Amino acid sequence: MAAEIIDGKKISAEIKEGLKDKIIRLKERGKVPGLAAVMVGDNPASQVYVNMKVKACEEIGIYSEVSRYPKDLPEGELMKKIDELNQQNNIHGILVQFPMPAQISEEKVILAIDPKKDVDGFHPFNVGMMLTGKPTFLPCTPLGIQELLVRSGHDPSGKHVVILGRGSLVGRPLAPMLYQKAKGANATVTICHTGTKNLPDITRQADILIAAMGKARFVTKDMVKPGVVVIDVGTNRIEDPTTKSGYRLVGDVDFNSVSQIAIAITPVPGGVGPMTIAMLLSNTVRSCEML
Ligand code: GUN
Repeated sequence: MAAEIIDGKKISAEIKEGLKDKIIRLKERGKVPGLAAVMVGDNPASQVYVNMKVKACEEIGIYSEVSRYPKDLPEGELMKKIDELNQQNNIHGILVQFPMPAQISEEKVILAIDPKKDVDGFHPFNVGMMLTGKPTFLPCTPLGIQELLVRSGHDPSGKHVVILGRGSLVGRPLAPMLYQKAKGANATVTICHTGTKNLPDITRQADILIAAMGKARFVTKDMVKPGVVVIDVGTNRIEDPTTKSGYRLVGDVDFNSVSQIAIAITPVPGGVGPMTIAMLLSNTVRSCEML
């Protein structure tokens, strides 16, 4: 039987509707949530992501401003801009789109952002809060994955979740978010990475498999058990001369084969991607409520 397609577009639209109501209530109290996005250089994927984030803000009534800088921007100039945004009362969330060019340290950028405006949830203060189970900004992609699982009826509680990839944006924060004793979590979590031996033996034990290692169509049918729930975080460009752009996006999962035996699976695009944006908006609204 073909798998249920977990529709990230639909679920994110529901979340955005809920946020609209919160924003109306904030506006009644004279407060407008504001997000500042900062881009350095002309990475095509970053441009697409920032444009999508700003458009989503407009759709639901969040004020947004974008600062775009050339790729040779000195690090000190970016620090000055972040400092200004930290002070700006109309800005509740600061998003510096990664990756940064080589002369800029991403670590310094993260440390420069006021943790109270760190809607990406990357600041070590917020990471520490998350690891100790305290309420804080949670990183948008892991939070989007958790929401997607819960809202599609596949609550991770009591399940064996196997995460492929230990990157700082997804795998590393997602593991503690899913094993903590909390609603929508309480799972048994295994992280697999480049040092993992006998990978298919482990992935075949997964009730929920989350692929976030950035390798096009890496997860194949023989690596999963029947009835698994699959979340595909990959966004890999592969050449495709039949499309206008000459490429198309595929996930880290071989969708056609895996969807034959999974019970549910996210598509790429239209799965995790829209959820990441919805969670950024949600964190920004939450910051405005608190600041
Ligand atoms: N680059 C890729 N994903 C992200 C993200 O979630 N936040 C930021 N700031 N940069 C990214």
